[in-house]
Amino acid sequence: MTLAPSQPASRFDRDDWASSFRNVGVELSDVPVAAARGTIPEALVGTLYRNGPGRLERGGQWVHHPFDGDGMITALRFEGGGAVLRNRFVRTEGWQAEEQAGKFVYRGVFGTQKPGGVLANAFDLRLKNIANTHVVRLGDQLLALWEAAEPHALDPDTLETRGISRLDGLLKPGEAFSAHPRFDPGHHGSERMVTFGVKTGPRSTIRLMEFAAADNPENGVRAGDLLSERRDSFNGFAFLHDFAITPNWAVFLQNAIDFNPLPYLLGRCGAAQCLKSRPGGQAKFWLIPRDGGAFAGQAPRILDAPDGFVFHHLNAWEEGETVVVESIYYDDFPSIGPDTDFRAVDFTTIPEGLLEQCRLNLADGTVRTERLSERCCEFAMVNPEREGLASRYAWMAVAERETGNDPLQAIKKLDLISGERRVWSAAPRGFVSEPLMVPRPGASAEDDGWVLCLVWNGARCASDLVILNAADLGEQAVLELPLAIPHGLHGSWVPAGA
Ligand code: CO
Repeated sequence: MTLAPSQPASRFDRDDWASSFRNVGVELSDVPVAAARGTIPEALVGTLYRNGPGRLERGGQWVHHPFDGDGMITALRFEGGGAVLRNRFVRTEGWQAEEQAGKFVYRGVFGTQKPGGVLANAFDLRLKNIANTHVVRLGDQLLALWEAAEPHALDPDTLETRGISRLDGLLKPGEAFSAHPRFDPGHHGSERMVTFGVKTGPRSTIRLMEFAAADNPENGVRAGDLLSERRDSFNGFAFLHDFAITPNWAVFLQNAIDFNPLPYLLGRCGAAQCLKSRPGGQAKFWLIPRDGGAFAGQAPRILDAPDGFVFHHLNAWEEGETVVVESIYYDDFPSIGPDTDFRAVDFTTIPEGLLEQCRLNLADGTVRTERLSERCCEFAMVNPEREGLASRYAWMAVAERETGNDPLQAIKKLDLISGERRVWSAAPRGFVSEPLMVPRPGASAEDDGWVLCLVWNGARCASDLVILNAADLGEQAVLELPLAIPHGLHGSWVPAGA
């Protein structure tokens, strides 16, 4: 593959970036990994779980988009200044069937078609639950998440797939369950996992669910128990990938987009390729009162949202009657046409993600928006102890150059109050994934801890795990993993004993 003329070689090498798109060919079991540079902190004790597409080609056919790749979980266990590595594919029904057949048996939501052309694909509306988007611990289960259907439960230690989980009968077969739970650090007593499912159509219904995330022997609550739920319906087609929480609100951003299912039904493209911005459409904030909060039981609040498209939020919090929501905005929905090869994508033609802050005044219904940074970013987070509260610092993946769209090659720490920023860069041959901020046990400063990030190392054609000091982004350790993990999606940190 050659560089497109619009991409000077000095920024990044497209072959390095694209070399990450490959099949994961091995499943490792507790392989010790030493630091190639620096030292692993003794106080870093727990497990890093990552999820992402691990199988991108079958029988010579490539997925149309990497998001159609089967979920593969990577676990790195840290203890006593050492680390061990394990990885397993999620044994979904689709993965098993396609492993056996040696070819794609299902269509992918992002446009992957079965062999045999339009006739083989038309009216085949079976969804392949590929469990590739996120992985979280809930009670004694590890949940591999994919937002259009139920989670898969895995053993947290062995990563062995237990099967589809309906969460003790809570979910109906095939019911949507978001891949973006939020962990409430204890705004209502003990830690909770707050999440949702969407049933969409001309009217869309959000099912908001709150689970205990920790055992509480005092009231007999066990981690994984459902504490509360509510359902609210809204006008219009809803595409909701992520949301944000405050102590009193669950905050959703309904993008102004439409879904025209015809090309999907006719077998011409994947369901996600039928999403289009609605010209002149009005995006909305949907604020649903949380149970246990000051507005429990009340009707949702609906406010106009600024133009643009949002996949991910950074955080939200309350200041009196104002709810502040920070999100990564794109100018438009970045759609993936049926004729585009994802490895040849021209980054300059895709809008970049930019961090913006919206202040929602619930007293008068007005919304004020401010850009927080001009640098292309994705996968932003605050200290998990500050989820739902005003935070001073955010960590995110960014492009190497200051403006314009490019692959994510650096980690940025942004001071949301002063605007001061620090950057650690993997450029020119490294490509970062979602950074996870892990607080140091017992820390009091908001930025005391580490940032863990899987980096695709184009020089090695394999993945590195980079540990940075969260405060100054100094390099603490680099682990050269004996594993090549394609550019991934989301992951989580589970402290030992949790
Ligand atoms: Co996401």
